[in-house]
Amino acid sequence: MGLKLGIFGTGYAGLVTSVCLAQLGHTVTAIDKDPDIVASLSDGRPTIHEPGLPELLTNNLQTGRLRFTTQAEDAMAAAEIVFLCVGTPPRADGRADLAQVEEVARTIAPLLDGYKLIVEKSTVPARTADWIDWTIRRLAGREHPFDVASNPEFLREGSAVRDFLQPDRIVIGADSSRARSLLLDLYEPSFECPIVVTSVTTAELIKQTANAFLATRISFINMISDLCEKLGVDVTTVASSVGLDSRIGGHFLSAGLGFGGSCLPKDLSSLIKVAEDNGVDVSMLRDVEHINTARVDRLLAKVERALWVLRDKVIGILGVAFKPDTDDIRGAPSLGVVPRLHGAGSILRIYDPAAGPNLQRLYPPDDRLTYANSALEAARDAHALLILTDWNEFRSLDLGQLRSLMRTPIIVDGRNLFEPAQVQAAGFEYYSLGRGEATLRVEPKRVYV
Ligand code: UGA
Repeated sequence: MGLKLGIFGTGYAGLVTSVCLAQLGHTVTAIDKDPDIVASLSDGRPTIHEPGLPELLTNNLQTGRLRFTTQAEDAMAAAEIVFLCVGTPPRADGRADLAQVEEVARTIAPLLDGYKLIVEKSTVPARTADWIDWTIRRLAGREHPFDVASNPEFLREGSAVRDFLQPDRIVIGADSSRARSLLLDLYEPSFECPIVVTSVTTAELIKQTANAFLATRISFINMISDLCEKLGVDVTTVASSVGLDSRIGGHFLSAGLGFGGSCLPKDLSSLIKVAEDNGVDVSMLRDVEHINTARVDRLLAKVERALWVLRDKVIGILGVAFKPDTDDIRGAPSLGVVPRLHGAGSILRIYDPAAGPNLQRLYPPDDRLTYANSALEAARDAHALLILTDWNEFRSLDLGQLRSLMRTPIIVDGRNLFEPAQVQAAGFEYYSLGRGEATLRVEPKRVYV
């Protein structure tokens, strides 16, 4: 039998969680303060780009298992479990900003009317549940029983629906048996994957550790990538060979422009703060951050190496989303690249299959920055083409056609999408990251003595 759920927040995590839990047969009321978002979602129009989401949204609105509202009390009245899926963006000091979490706690407190299980899904620093508990207890008084649990999400943008419905594991952090059994009732009937049941603080830490580890893998391979470049070795061969070791595995070893998005950079810096506040030396994680922020400089150095003077050079930019299959530009390397090339006087033609409108809100078109409707349009008359996101669409570009459109056939590939030999055979000067210097394949020197 389905449970009745209230979900605060309809961002990436909140919306995917809402539609997927409704799909599993639960009755979901999702709450957002923004009436435009609520209207759009109630009409079946998704507010984010996520494969598989539109179908599930329509389907569950039709069955009546899913509805959206601006009124917290609507959701609270019936809900057995209330999920917190609001944003926890980074603050200037690197800590997670928990203002929205606190606001939901304050909203929930006076609406308690019998036992409720309040579950953190937003990624939060360890011990945030204690603060939520304390806030609600202070404002609601003693008479209403409730628990605060943690059930972190491990959804990747671009495959979030699949990740929700076919997870590697589910983590339930609950300190009372009532909370534990409610969350097990929610998940056990629908999933065969391992379900890890642990304390609330452990669950909070599991989530931040997972993201910090993924970030560490990426910076690690990017560090090796710089060495590969000096040695004339191809980092993709090194990474794929190393990844064949089952103790290491092949995922998250793609060298390139580094990690962006709203999660890895934020969770890494938040974990660093939690550790430092607890007197633990995490200088290794600081290096992970430094390696990542230097990736954009590295790419721009290649652009200068390829074009020499940047002023008045026409540069086509392919991809501005922080990763493929999303329109999200939060933390994207493009946010470092675009303003710097624009500031240097280059003429930019930008194309992204989904994220163009989001970038356009930050950088409206002007006489030196325009948005193209296709990769080929962005490449027309360009002195160089820059690849910032690994959309599949770019992999299948007709290189011959691309070359014929460009003023000078130069590709600077921040995501190592192509085989150097393949692009060079098509007549391009090809710069990528961690695969030897420019188009020159450095062969080991033979020394005769
Ligand atoms: C990340 C985690 O992968 C999810 O498990 C987690 O649930 C989510 O954060 C979250 O905390 O909500 P996401 O931010 O969607 O998911 O993106 P990732 O797939 O992790 O990619 C992050 C960045 O790393 C992207 O910019 C991507 O281009 C980059 N990346 C990824 C690399 O540079 N190399 C790789 O090998 C893999």
